[in-house]
Amino acid sequence: MKPATEPRRDYKTLVQRGYDLCSERYTAARRLEPPESLGVLTERLREGARVLDLGCGGGVPIAKSLSERFEVTGVDFSSEQIRRAKENVPAATFHCCDVLDYIPEHPFAAVTAFYVLFHLPKTDQLELIRRLSTWVKPGGLVLTTITESDQAPYTEDDFFGATMYWTNFSRSKYEAVFQDAGFRVLSVGAVGHGYRDGEGFERHPFLLAERIH
Ligand SMILES: C[S@@+](CC[C@H](N)C(=O)[O-])C[C@H]1O[C@@H](n2cnc3c(N)ncnc32)[C@H](O)[C@@H]1O
Repeated sequence: MKPATEPRRDYKTLVQRGYDLCSERYTAARRLEPPESLGVLTERLREGARVLDLGCGGGVPIAKSLSERFEVTGVDFSSEQIRRAKENVPAATFHCCDVLDYIPEHPFAAVTAFYVLFHLPKTDQLELIRRLSTWVKPGGLVLTTITESDQAPYTEDDFFGATMYWTNFSRSKYEAVFQDAGFRVLSVGAVGHGYRDGEGFERHPFLLAERIH
């Protein structure tokens, strides 16, 4: 783990290129069964509802599982991940761009964001959460993985063969940021990491939030 403090280094491009590079290995290692936590969202949605999956990766298992009952749009800035997602989930619509360059054509009933917030610089995470309140309808839902503790930006050299970047707020800070953005936090639970070849069982909190105004 190395501190990601080089002022001139473009860490977003590092993440984008990193996933282009590790897409095959990441997707091969990805757990194929949808996490139970997805159910806390889907049980609240009507059949055919529009759902946006941010940082959709190769589309499995989240977009694929959602597409069985809902109209799914996926966004990811790795062209390799998007190529795979289109193959894996032909029923969904995919856009290859930074989540902050994405402009929704209509509000969604729900947004999912599994294992993606922590790849964005903190200022971008705050901006994205603020925008989410306009991307879902009043009463709309956001289900996202978050993290337990605050962590300053860092990189690791071998994330499925690629250099990768992460940073995150504490769980209580995420809850406060969602509340400030006009959401009510409905539930917080835990989900394991998404892939099979990790060390032990890393737990990521997830948060389900509802837009209230
Ligand atoms: C750990 S993977 C998770 C993929 C998928 N959600 C899953 O559950 O397997 C993170 C994904 O987020 C994407 N990503 C990271 N930062 C992004 C950004 N700023 N804009 C769009 N996609 C981003 C990466 O390209 C990668 O596919």
